[in-house]
Amino acid sequence: MLDMDRIPRHVAIIMDGNGRWAKAHGVPRVAGHNAGMKAMKKIVDHSDKLGVEYLTVYAFSTENWKRSVEEVGGIFKLLVKYVQSDLKGLIDNNVHVNILGDYSAIPEDARKSLEKTLAKTSANDGLKFNIAINYGSRDEIRRSVTELCRMVKDGQLEPEDVTEEMIGAHLFTGHEDIPDPEVVIRTSGEERLSNFLMWQCAYSEFVFVDEFWPDFTPERYEKALEIYQSRDRRFGGR
Ligand code: IPE
Ligand code: IPE
Ligand code: MG
Repeated sequence: MLDMDRIPRHVAIIMDGNGRWAKAHGVPRVAGHNAGMKAMKKIVDHSDKLGVEYLTVYAFSTENWKRSVEEVGGIFKLLVKYVQSDLKGLIDNNVHVNILGDYSAIPEDARKSLEKTLAKTSANDGLKFNIAINYGSRDEIRRSVTELCRMVKDGQLEPEDVTEEMIGAHLFTGHEDIPDPEVVIRTSGEERLSNFLMWQCAYSEFVFVDEFWPDFTPERYEKALEIYQSRDRRFGGR
């Protein structure tokens, strides 16, 4: 049973397996991404119900540009569809949407829909829903280093005074004061980070599940959180 008194504050999810789900159902990859958006909607609602404070989902990586123009275009079209059809629901549910990653590089209509969503949900103080788009952990750390180098160059900071907190504060998650995730869930049986939250996951628990992302239900989500709750977190202590 899930212990409702020990729900993690921050859950991060690598939503993987849309393509393989599509293949298994004999439909185009984009149909898999569409099914994935539906699964995401349910997990957002359920996170809120469980009392999770921060939900971060990996929607598009800095490496996903390597995919075909059709697939990339399809993913962003679906994102616009999701954001537009669900904006009212997000507002009604007091969800605060935030983007991790440089979304200036994505197609203009998707960027505009996201900006509208950010503006309309910015005053909400319910679930913090972070969508990682054009996100890569190495790119994020590089940006933090660049900002700190600039401060050194401007004479505001001595190199030996750089702290871990300063590096963290200049990450996308630092700009919004997002705590490190207690747990990272990855679907589809793959067991790797794929450039996701490498700095922030230093002491996160990892739960890998076999289901493809479109098949990841709220029930399976609760099971994954139960696995997290069964872990003994030691943080290097005894
Ligand atoms: C995850 O599903 C969604 C994105 C990476 C955008 P995939 O598209 O990676 O699905 P598989 O891994 O090919 O099955
Ligand atoms: C990670 O999945 C990125 C997202 C889920 C958005 P990928 O499918 O891109 O990762 P790899 O290529 O299997 O490592
Ligand atoms: Mg994949």
